[in-house]
Amino acid sequence: MPTPDFDMVLFGGTGDLAKRKLLPALFDAHRDGHLSARGRIVATGSQALTRADYLGALERQVRPKLDGATESNWLEFIARIDYIQIDVRETGGFDALAARLAESAAPVAVCYLATAPHLFTTICEQLARVGLNTPNVRVVLEKPLGHDLTSSETINTSVGRFFDETQIYRIDHYLGKESVQNLMAIRFGNALLEPLWRREWIRDVQITIAEELGVEQRGDFYDRTGALRDMVQNHLLQLLCMVAMEPPASLEEDAIRDEKLKILKALKPMHAADATANTVRGQYRAGAVAGQPVAGYLEEDGIALDSRTETFVAIKAEIANWRWAGVPFFLRTGKRMASRVAEIVIRFHDVPHALFPRPLAQSPQNRLVIRLQPEESIRLELLVKQPGDTVELRQTSLDLDFSESFKGRRAGAYERLLLDVIRGKLGLFMRRDEQAQAWRWVAPILDTWATLPQPPKPYTAGTWGPAASSALLSRNGAAWHEEV
Ligand code: BG6
Repeated sequence: MPTPDFDMVLFGGTGDLAKRKLLPALFDAHRDGHLSARGRIVATGSQALTRADYLGALERQVRPKLDGATESNWLEFIARIDYIQIDVRETGGFDALAARLAESAAPVAVCYLATAPHLFTTICEQLARVGLNTPNVRVVLEKPLGHDLTSSETINTSVGRFFDETQIYRIDHYLGKESVQNLMAIRFGNALLEPLWRREWIRDVQITIAEELGVEQRGDFYDRTGALRDMVQNHLLQLLCMVAMEPPASLEEDAIRDEKLKILKALKPMHAADATANTVRGQYRAGAVAGQPVAGYLEEDGIALDSRTETFVAIKAEIANWRWAGVPFFLRTGKRMASRVAEIVIRFHDVPHALFPRPLAQSPQNRLVIRLQPEESIRLELLVKQPGDTVELRQTSLDLDFSESFKGRRAGAYERLLLDVIRGKLGLFMRRDEQAQAWRWVAPILDTWATLPQPPKPYTAGTWGPAASSALLSRNGAAWHEEV
């Protein structure tokens, strides 16, 4: 069903996020008939561009990268788009915006703040000044929301002066991924797994988001941010919540967000000694990714020569509650790693008494490998009898490949989330308390790292990170699941 009529205002409309993610996502939704015919997109930016200039730039920079763009659907799509120059430090642009939105009188207005976070307060204040904070207006806040708990609370408080919490959509695009939602369906739609989903049966859990990309053109931003703030505080902790949370009573948005919050609150605090023992930070050096030589982090544009920013993190986390006490949750993310993969690996306990001989080299445990990207699949690793006259066990797996089982296009993360905002569905967005709690948990790690004399451990680009990351797991009788 198409969305209701809407106006979607993109602050940062000339920026990278709008061109790489938001406009392509809106195009996909348009092409597949999900957008109301009267939905309009108003891009804003500080540059003095005419509508024709802006559309010309989209023609050159966005259109060539789209799937399924034809002359007619592209022309229909850009007919929805307008451009208004807004210098956020001046009031004139906001007056023009209000006048433009008043003309269409759409029942829903979405203001997507794809700008630097220090502008959020001014933009919200100006929106309120021109009356664009009525209940039909929603604001979408891009990450990173702040640099730490204090700065994120400052932004949230000032946005909260003008918008009610039910109007604020804090985006974490991992929650929009089909595969992440499927995780909930797998856990709570099947009776099979839930009884086993606890400390009595699960030995450890690994969550990896590995990237082949380096810092790209975002060196300056990344050097101030690092992997813990960029990926762990949000994406990895959200995945951890999806794996570990109790079944919510309903799919109602706060039912799910309440359960996620409980997990974040149950994470064992990382005091200084724990942060030293249970975390590894790394930084890539020159190497090769996918057969191509790549520069080291310190040689990238925008990076301080003596930077100590981490491009890799591994953490052993624990959840202090009845279901999970004592089960390590190993989290790992890094840039310039051996391959692009996001996956969750659940390792079950071994059988209590081994009846069958089996080669030592084989990992005896059952594992459930839930792969989120690049392809979406679920694999349950089991031991079976090797054919032959002796009884020897061999590892094999039950495989479910979603691209094989479900043909057809799957909505991208941004597309799904943008449609949800237009439809007023908050469930896949982070609530303020969740976000604050995630900052509270990462804060002591950042504080401890800041006091350490040693820099992050170097690792060669194109590998799985520093050796200390493997050592972290082997100290706990585990090993990272790695396939290239
Ligand atoms: C973003 C980070 O939130 O997620 C980027 O800022 C990272 O540094 C990206 O590359 C990864 O997202 P995905 O969907 O490509 O796994």
